[in-house]
Amino acid sequence: MDKPVTYDAPAPKAGILDIAPYVGGKSKIDGVAEPIKLSSNENALGCSAMAAAAFSEAQSKLFRYPDGHANPLRAAVAAYHDLEPERLIFGNGSDEVFGLLNQTYLEAGDNIVTGEHGFLAYRISALACQAQVRLAPEPDLRVDIDNLLELVDARTKLVYISNPANPTGTWNTPEEISDLRSRLASDIILVIDEAYAEFVDEPTWESALEMARGHDNIVVTRTFSKIHGLAGLRVGFGYCPKPLIDAMDRIRMPFNINLPAQAAAVAALSDRAHIDASRAQVTLWRPRLIQAIRSFGLEVGNSAGNFVLIRFRDAAEAARANEFLMEQGLIVRHVVNYGLPQCLRVTVGKDAENEAFLEALGRFARVSER
Ligand SMILES: Cc1ncc(COP(=O)(O)O)c(C=O)c1O
Repeated sequence: MDKPVTYDAPAPKAGILDIAPYVGGKSKIDGVAEPIKLSSNENALGCSAMAAAAFSEAQSKLFRYPDGHANPLRAAVAAYHDLEPERLIFGNGSDEVFGLLNQTYLEAGDNIVTGEHGFLAYRISALACQAQVRLAPEPDLRVDIDNLLELVDARTKLVYISNPANPTGTWNTPEEISDLRSRLASDIILVIDEAYAEFVDEPTWESALEMARGHDNIVVTRTFSKIHGLAGLRVGFGYCPKPLIDAMDRIRMPFNINLPAQAAAVAALSDRAHIDASRAQVTLWRPRLIQAIRSFGLEVGNSAGNFVLIRFRDAAEAARANEFLMEQGLIVRHVVNYGLPQCLRVTVGKDAENEAFLEALGRFARVSER
């Protein structure tokens, strides 16, 4: 007879089991062969054919270790964004860059400050460092600079914001960002996550890359998961002051960006046509979605990302809408984990996917007498 399973395994360090596991966007619906997946802010057009070709070509080199400093990728990103190559750190997704920052700067009892609906990855690795996570209220679902600063104290090591923000789609102006920077002590790192930068067409938004160049405590992160459609390969980077790179590079795993990912990311940067088409899909459909959703009597905010956030009357109505959409083969994200149980987030999809989504949501609004 097999021995009964026992659970007296070694205990993890304090706090680990209090961390809620990250739940990604759903990708399956029972009984539906090909659901329409609009739940993870992926690129509706997929990745560049040039990136896919570079990935395939890398097959012949899979027995080799990748370049531990991602030098060709570093050069390509530096040239593309006009940045100093030595001020870049690459991560297995920008998620890893947040993890490296937290591991390098947080001791037990320190804290990070972010918005109450801020991206969850910042929090998970901070908690793993036995740091505290402080969440600043976001009136109107926007990051509020005064509220962030109110939570900063002597144990604050990092302040995180995403601009544009996920899942709210809201953004902060350059004036607000410089206000935050100027009121933050210079020994606190301000991390500005610009995962959705390429989708913004708001005149009141500006990248913080230029501002970061002149300051020793600002990090700006970007990702290949969104505009380049390479979420599955996991490549992101941070533009950081050199001393931060020197510190983080000591704990970064030597080969954290795999070889085909490096090759595909370099190729993606050279495919301007795919970048433009990806942006155009979002700038065409985002206002169409917003207008149509409002015409159904539902509330949806303006968004600067490749997604929109729909606000229902309450959590129960959002759950019903989510169920209804699933029954029609559509997967969107019920953003309960972000403190928004009354909201569904929907990624801009391909033309036919967006049309199918609007058709289904319109029906839901009619049956629930909107
Ligand atoms: C605000 C924000 N930052 C970062 C990321 C993650 O990027 P990556 O895939 O590079 O880890 C996401 C992904 O959804 C995001 O929404």
